[in-house]
Amino acid sequence: MRDGSEERRRAGEMRAVLLSAFGGLGKLRVSRSATPEPPRRGELRIRVKACGLNFLDLMVRQGIIDNPPKTPLIPGFECSGIVEAVGPDTAGFEIGERVMAFVNYGAWAEVVCAPLDFVYKVPDAMTFPEAAGFLVSFVAAYVMLFEVASLREGMSVLVHSAGGGVGQAVAQLCSCIPRVAVFGTASLSKHDAIKDSVTYLFDRTVDYVQEVKKISPEGVDVVLDCLSGEDTGKGLALLKPLGTYILYGSSNMVTGERKSFFSLAKSWWQVEKVNPIKLYEENKVVAGFSLLNLLFRQGRGGLVGAVVQKLLSLYNEKKIRPVVDSLWALEEVTEAMQRIHDRGNVGKLILDVEKFPTPLMASDSTESSEAGEDEEDQEGDDDDKERVPFIQ
Ligand SMILES: NC(=O)c1ccc[n+]([C@@H]2O[C@H](COP(=O)([O-])OP(=O)(O)OC[C@H]3O[C@@H](n4cnc5c(N)ncnc54)[C@H](OP(=O)(O)O)[C@@H]3O)[C@@H](O)[C@H]2O)c1
Repeated sequence: MRDGSEERRRAGEMRAVLLSAFGGLGKLRVSRSATPEPPRRGELRIRVKACGLNFLDLMVRQGIIDNPPKTPLIPGFECSGIVEAVGPDTAGFEIGERVMAFVNYGAWAEVVCAPLDFVYKVPDAMTFPEAAGFLVSFVAAYVMLFEVASLREGMSVLVHSAGGGVGQAVAQLCSCIPRVAVFGTASLSKHDAIKDSVTYLFDRTVDYVQEVKKISPEGVDVVLDCLSGEDTGKGLALLKPLGTYILYGSSNMVTGERKSFFSLAKSWWQVEKVNPIKLYEENKVVAGFSLLNLLFRQGRGGLVGAVVQKLLSLYNEKKIRPVVDSLWALEEVTEAMQRIHDRGNVGKLILDVEKFPTPLMASDSTESSEAGEDEEDQEGDDDDKERVPFIQ
């Protein structure tokens, strides 16, 4: 256990990543705050071991999400750890059990309280970092492929950012079904690492519509689009009759460390207007998917719970396994986020609550990193030295 954690525990305090205001990387820092109250009815309190860092967390940091919550806040939507206390009506869970959970903000802390409906037991073979990176990517990939697009033998799927958390989950789930062809786009730097996980891989900068059509003139059965609708026209053009296009992300709205009103406006302007009559004529399906809304606004915890159990069966049969890109201390959260901004990750970035920050090397710059240069980000930004990350 990390030094000082016993002392913090006795004082009723915890370390947590705090987002002081929406903006650049400098708005994040690790703080000491009071641990959550004892768990309420139907809640478990979890001593967190690891937390998943998703693309969505970059968007939260910049404040480019629907209904942004008020700052300061503790970010994070998923974690794994050990049940530390149980509230009333929590039959089925015991203190000391290894669990993973969806959290509606607040996951990046040493202690988290979560309702029973969003907590799942972790198989013995699964590590805490794997468990922390399992839920968001795999549940999103599963629901889109099987609940929305009814993926079956012999179908074909196009996925962008194929090397990322969701992209790798999509690739693994597709490999569970016979003869499913996966067409993926990704930055060239990742191609060596991921080429075996997809059937056809394209550089993200090429005209993928032409490339897919060279291989499959009829197109594909499923298009998974996390580019905010900018590519809806291309995705629809690539669909075979009865094919399904699913919009599930807005990665292209993030054009740098800070929110750019210009790129937001450009993205919004470029979103294709879909004509239902054309869909009818061409036999095509257009869908949207948001896991967090499904869980936290639309009350579909039961559906998601059933999906998690199917995914855990696939994990136990060794058919799927979360790909962990790298582990970072809470204090390294800005470097971890920078790695996503730089499009460097293959699989999931994980915040390891018990990890110590990698020591600064003598040769490291003592100047502020880029993250701290902006005037807007000076406040509370006292830890900007570059670190050599520990990469698994
Ligand atoms: N709707 C849902 O329920 C749901 C759930 C989970 C995730 N998502 C969405 O799915 C997408 C992938 O999420 P993830 O968490 O798995 O992330 P991820 O794919 O691991 O994200 C990092 C990768 O995204 C790509 N990318 C695309 N545009 C980028 C940009 N503007 N800046 C930096 N990287 C960019 C880069 O890969 P390449 O350079 O190789 O393309 C980068 O390595 C995101 O849009 C996310 O919001 C949606």
